[in-house]
Amino acid sequence: MTTERIILGIESSCDETAAAVVRGDSGCRRREILSNIVFDQMDLHSEFGGVVPEIAARAHAEKLDKAVELALRESTFPLKRMDAIAVTVGPGLIGGLLAGVATAQGLALGAGKPLVAVNHLEGHALTPRLTDGLPYPYLMLLVSGGHCLFLIVRGPGDHERIGTTIDDAPGEAFDKTAKLLNLGYPGGPMVERTAERGDEKRFKLPRPLMDRPGCDVSFSGLKTAVRVHRDQQIAAGGMSEQDVADLCAGFQAAARDLLAEKSRRAMALFRQVEPHAQNPGFAVAGGVAANLALRTELESAASANDFRFLAPPLSLCTDNAAMIAWAGLERFDAGIVEPALPRPRFPIAGNSRNDLWAGKKGAKV
Ligand code: KG4
Ligand code: ZN
Repeated sequence: MTTERIILGIESSCDETAAAVVRGDSGCRRREILSNIVFDQMDLHSEFGGVVPEIAARAHAEKLDKAVELALRESTFPLKRMDAIAVTVGPGLIGGLLAGVATAQGLALGAGKPLVAVNHLEGHALTPRLTDGLPYPYLMLLVSGGHCLFLIVRGPGDHERIGTTIDDAPGEAFDKTAKLLNLGYPGGPMVERTAERGDEKRFKLPRPLMDRPGCDVSFSGLKTAVRVHRDQQIAAGGMSEQDVADLCAGFQAAARDLLAEKSRRAMALFRQVEPHAQNPGFAVAGGVAANLALRTELESAASANDFRFLAPPLSLCTDNAAMIAWAGLERFDAGIVEPALPRPRFPIAGNSRNDLWAGKKGAKV
C-alpha cells in the first residue's frame, strides 16, 4: 500500500517555464494533475531560429514565481499542503536550471519541505505512469529536440538505455530541415504540415544505420541529403511550393521509417531482456511524438509485436512540470534522495555515454 502525496513540480531546463501540482500514489491507483502551467518562450526565440540560452535564462527567472503561484492557486492547495517540491536539475541549459533550482530551494527552505531532484528525461520516461498507470517494466522511445533514446524503464532511477542517436536528435533534424526550406521555427510542426501536400517518394532520401544491427539511429546524413536536394533544385531553376512539400514528405518518411524499424528491434531486444513481461507497453514521449505520421507507424509496429502502444496527450509529450512532479512523487516514495544541484549533462541511464550526445541543449545525456 503506497501513500498518497501532493507534489509541486518545477521545470525550466530549456524554453518552457513550467510549474504543476500532481496528486497520486506511486502504485498508480491515484494519479491526478491538479494544475499544469506552461509558459513557452516561442516569441522570444523565433527570430533567432533556435533557443538563445541567455534569453531563456532571463525569461525563466522572470516567470518562475508566477508559474508556481498559478499552479498552486489552480490546484486549490497551498504550499504548506505539499508533501515535497520536485525540480528538474538536468540535463538542460545551465541558466534555466539554476533559476529553477534556486526557486525550488527557496520554496523548500521557506516552507520546510523536502526537495526532490529530478532528471528531465526521467520526467518524460515516467509520463505513461501518470497518464495510464503503465506497469513496470516497459519500453520507451523518447524523441525530442535534444534527445533520442530507447529505454527499458523498470522504476524510478532504474533505466537501461538500449539505443540512442549517434549525432543529431530527431527534433533537431526536423528543425534544421525547416530552416533549410525557410519554413520557420519550431520546424517539426511546419514540416509535418507542409509534408501533407507532398509526395514522399519523389526525392530519394537515405535511411541511415538501417544496415547496422542494434537500435542506434543517425539523422545528420538525412539532413545533409535534404540540403543536397534543395541545392540541386535551386541550381535547376528554384524551389517551387511543390518541391518544398515533396522534400518535407520525403524527409518525414525517412525519419518515420528509421524510427519504426529501430523500434521493432528495440521491442525484440526488450523481449529478450524481459522475457516475463506480459503484454508490455511501448510508450513514446517528447515533442517529436506529436508527429502523426510517426505515431501511426509506431502504433502499428507495436500492435504487430504484441506491445501495448501509449502516447501521452500532446500537452504531456512536450516539456511540462506535471511530469516532473510525478517523477518526483515516485522518487520521494522510493526514498531516492539526490542533491539538487544543476547538471547540464545528466545521463538518465548508467550505461549512457556523455560523449555521444548532442542536441539543441548541447551535449547532454
Ligand atoms: O520535447 P520538446 O518539446 O522539447 C525538447 O526538445 O526537450 O521537443 C521539441 C521538438 C522540436 O524540435 C520540434 O520541432 C519537435 O519537437 N516537434 C515535432 C513536431 N512537433 C514538435 N517534430 C515533428 N513533428 C511534429 N509535429
Ligand atoms: Zn523534454
